Amino acid sequence: MKIIACYSNKGGVGKTAAAVNLAYAYAQSGARTLLCDLDPQGASSFYFRVKPSKKLKDTQFFEDVDRFTRAIRGSDYENLDILPANLTFRDFDVFLSRMKNSRSRLKKALKAVDGDYDVIILDCPPNISSLSEAVFKAADRVVVPVIPTTLSERSFEQLFAFFKESGLKTAKLLTFFSMVQGRKTLHGETMARLRDSYGKLFLSTELPFSTDVEKMGVYREPALCFARTRPAGRAYLALFDEVNAHVSGGKTAMRTKGSP
Ligand SMILES: Nc1ncnc2c1ncn2[C@@H]1O[C@H](COP(=O)(O)OP(=O)(O)OP(=O)(O)O)[C@@H](O)[C@H]1O
Ligand SMILES: [Mg+2]
Repeated sequence: MKIIACYSNKGGVGKTAAAVNLAYAYAQSGARTLLCDLDPQGASSFYFRVKPSKKLKDTQFFEDVDRFTRAIRGSDYENLDILPANLTFRDFDVFLSRMKNSRSRLKKALKAVDGDYDVIILDCPPNISSLSEAVFKAADRVVVPVIPTTLSERSFEQLFAFFKESGLKTAKLLTFFSMVQGRKTLHGETMARLRDSYGKLFLSTELPFSTDVEKMGVYREPALCFARTRPAGRAYLALFDEVNAHVSGGKTAMRTKGSP
């Protein structure tokens, strides 16, 4: 079972949009997929029309395997299940900070479904906290959307520095440019500078700014369902290919039925 986190210390950069489309692409490829919504806002559960899990409280998430597995819901799509968030998830940090071995707790909780899923996608809230440290520990890869603007660049530098200072493997980071507007000089310059500084940490995929991504909230479907052949859909497929190649170590292990 592989664990892929969609994470950024910055809000509103496209984490949820990436998580939803990556989860859908994995499921379509034949991989048994669980999308785990760790954000109390519950946006990824909303996109898949899954209601908040009333019965799974913050503490039970990490301690009660039965409740954790019973809170998992099916989706409208084959091979794709959702663990919906609820508002109590906002207390994850307080709870984790009081626990021993808090960094290992998420990995341990997710082990409960090892065997049921080939891949777990984590949709994370935006901050550097006890929860995110647990995410960094649990995840095989951390997919980070970066909007090519000055503030997003700064946030990425802070995240990279945090990884270094904490002795985490920076090779876990898979970064892609999000909401790219080709006509903006600032976007072009920022992307060139970051690619220059961080090299392979940045994937080739550039997710364009697209109303198709915004329309996911209207249709409550991944963009890959209704805009597969348009720029955003094609970019999410390219993102899936790149992430999957890293996660399966150059093999195509996750793709049991060919391209999603
Ligand atoms: N490529 C894109 N083009 C246009 N709009 C986008 C794109 N990606 C995301 N958005 C829009 O930007 C907003 C934020 O996106 P999203 O919810 O995916 O970000 P997030 O990083 O998960 O935010 P949060 O930190 O609040 O969890 C949403 O309204 C979404 O529709
Ligand atoms: Mg989000």
